[in-house]
Amino acid sequence: MLRPNRREFLLVLLLMGLSSATMMLVPLWAKVLVNEIILKNDFFLLFRHLMWGLLLFLCILFLEYERESRKLYLGNAMEAGVRTRLFQSIICMPLSIMPGHQTGDMISRISNDVRVFGDGMREGIFNLIPNAMMVLGLVILMVWYSFTLTVMTLLMISPMAWAVGYFVRRIRATSRHAQEKLASVNNMVEESIRGLREIKCYGREEFVGERFSRLNEETLQAHNQQDRLRAINPAIVSCQTFITIGILILVCSWMVFRGFLPVADLIAFITCLLLIFTPISRISASLGLISKVFSAMDRFDEILYLPKESVHAENLPSLPTIKGNVVFKDVYFSYRRKGFRMEDISFEIGPGETIAIVGPSGAGKTTLVNLLLRFLEPISGTILIDGRDIHQHRIDTLRGQIGLVPQEPVLFDATLRENLSFGKMNATEDEIRAAASAAYVDQFARDLPNGYDTPIGPYGGRLSVGQRQRIAIARAFLLNPRLLILDEPTSALDPESEHLISDSLRTLWHGRTTIIVAHRMSTIRNVDRIIVLDNGRIVQNDTRQNLLKEDGLFQRLYAYAVSLTDDGWGRKIPDSASLDC
Ligand SMILES: Nc1ncnc2c1ncn2[C@@H]1O[C@H](COP(=O)(O)OP(=O)(O)OP(=O)(O)O)[C@@H](O)[C@H]1O
Ligand SMILES: [Mg+2]
Repeated sequence: MLRPNRREFLLVLLLMGLSSATMMLVPLWAKVLVNEIILKNDFFLLFRHLMWGLLLFLCILFLEYERESRKLYLGNAMEAGVRTRLFQSIICMPLSIMPGHQTGDMISRISNDVRVFGDGMREGIFNLIPNAMMVLGLVILMVWYSFTLTVMTLLMISPMAWAVGYFVRRIRATSRHAQEKLASVNNMVEESIRGLREIKCYGREEFVGERFSRLNEETLQAHNQQDRLRAINPAIVSCQTFITIGILILVCSWMVFRGFLPVADLIAFITCLLLIFTPISRISASLGLISKVFSAMDRFDEILYLPKESVHAENLPSLPTIKGNVVFKDVYFSYRRKGFRMEDISFEIGPGETIAIVGPSGAGKTTLVNLLLRFLEPISGTILIDGRDIHQHRIDTLRGQIGLVPQEPVLFDATLRENLSFGKMNATEDEIRAAASAAYVDQFARDLPNGYDTPIGPYGGRLSVGQRQRIAIARAFLLNPRLLILDEPTSALDPESEHLISDSLRTLWHGRTTIIVAHRMSTIRNVDRIIVLDNGRIVQNDTRQNLLKEDGLFQRLYAYAVSLTDDGWGRKIPDSASLDC
């Protein structure tokens, strides 16, 4: 964490040393002032000496300001550096391990834990160093005055050092617990804001509020427990100070009385002793903060050392421009050792062909398209595009050529134009307008207060579901990919939106290799072929006409979907029936 700021760190250390050394000049200056000048009654010399004093004062001011500001800047820079590294790790994380991590927890690491780390650096490490230097200097002086007494002192304060070390270790453990609790609070806030509609709909405000209060109380307790331990350390130091000084004064008096120690050395030694406990007390407080830094760093490591997706693996060749032939050969995949698995997945799609993937919920439809996008890696088997193994080519050149219209498109808190050009940042205004018009986005864009420059709110929340879906389709138009993956919206859209979306989807997939995860009968009517998945296996793969004749899962799904809906007047309307069972 220090490496990128090594020079700044050394500079801060140098400034710390310089400002302490300059401070040491003050008593010297005062001694000269009294001894040499005031007593000699020489006003010219006094004036010159006062000027030196002023210069010394300005030097101290300058060095203190530089030291403090650079120390704070360095802490901030380290904080910002860690934050960027964490963010990079999070966005480079493979999607396959993402579900194991909660959003709120990650936000907590990147905000709260980074803050704890920054405070620990600024107030902990940077206070520890000058105080440790001071303790070292005073110990050297004490040895100079009396070696025996110094050894005695060190022996007497060793139980204190052990106790401080013990509590520092305990603070580290409790601090981790407190940080985890705070992460749970963040998780709950995030979850509740996302699910606000559900909370209100089911009237669960009070229930959720109480759950939050309980969690918040637990977090408070965890923080109190950690701070209680932090408060113990200064108390230990104070207690030890009284005991050590009391015993040493007795011993010293005896030594002076016996003539083993000159009185002047005794006074100097006791002064050092009195001076040494203040930096020791500060060191113990710093150690409390530093142990929090270590527990935050442990939590960073859990994110920083996650496996990364080799999106830009430079040693692999780029995937040439796709023509559109897709082949799955004996693909086998499983999320975990036990549970759901995809087996013997083999099929081929010709260039320009449109196929639909259907099957019951949980059959593996999304898993299949995620394998093609390399969001998941198969355990065995190969996936080829135009005869080339996709795992032997750079991921970015694969994904950059595939248009994806997800089931629930995620839009960003930016303008409509920025959201449209998300997949092609260098798109011209004409290209954006053409894509928007093909996906019927221009229809509602005209009514927005600032047209294409209107911010659409977090997650695109100021737009309807159908409008968001149309933006996702426009993105795919703009990318103009040879290979298209569509995850149909399952949420009930109004007839007009549904009609517009189906219309623009058909225009979009025309002439491209298209894989549609189909949820509606109206969609599969127009596809070339249908792959039927059941429990991770392909059970049927044929045209719609043939599948309807065949006694198999598709016929059952179809019959079930048809039996589900009517047009509101008791008549069946199979074309808009949902395929989800
Ligand atoms: N990240 C995951 N870890 C473990 N199991 C998972 C994970 N994602 C999905 N599964 C399991 O894999 C199976 C297939 O899931 P998948 O999302 O591919 O189904 P699907 O056919 O797309 O269903 P739906 O129509 O409901 O979207 C399910 O049984 C699911 O529980
Ligand atoms: Mg799915």
